[in-house]
Amino acid sequence: MNKCVICPGSYDPITLGHIDIIERAASLFDKVIVVVMINYKKKYSFSVEERVEMIKKCVSHLSNVEVDFSDGLLSEYAKEKNAYAIVKGLRAMSDFEYEFQMALANKKMNKSIETLFLTTNAEFMYLSSSMVKQIASMGGDISDFVPKAIHKDIIERLK
Ligand code: PNS
Repeated sequence: MNKCVICPGSYDPITLGHIDIIERAASLFDKVIVVVMINYKKKYSFSVEERVEMIKKCVSHLSNVEVDFSDGLLSEYAKEKNAYAIVKGLRAMSDFEYEFQMALANKKMNKSIETLFLTTNAEFMYLSSSMVKQIASMGGDISDFVPKAIHKDIIERLK
């Protein structure tokens, strides 16, 4: 059976931590759909189109990865794509409660969907999109945090 998984997120912007999870998901499953979705708690710095374009630039080396956008519910999107599972990265205990709540809500809405968590690479434990934005907007060096392909896009936008 062909196994397609979904990596959903805000990706505002995508970081090396996200890329690590996407690469690992791509090595475990037949197909990965990286989908930019809306988190109503967040105010975004990059438009949906910009985020999708940035992700595409960063995953072009992965032949089984697609990039998409959805403004709907993740559980519905997973059903539509006939996905095997939702794959998310887990950095620390602080992520756990929020991720656990989302996984349970998604399961309630779509009984057939599983959420799988990949433990973050220790190197990226502390890394988040908001940290990248804060450092970039104050003129700091973000080259260890984001893929080279989008480094300039982020600096130019946030400087
Ligand atoms: O990167 P984020 O902001 O932690 O990602 C959260 C995201 C976008 C995956 C989540 O907010 C989401 O699934 N949004 C889509 C709408 C939805 O299904 N909401 C209910 C989730 S329980």
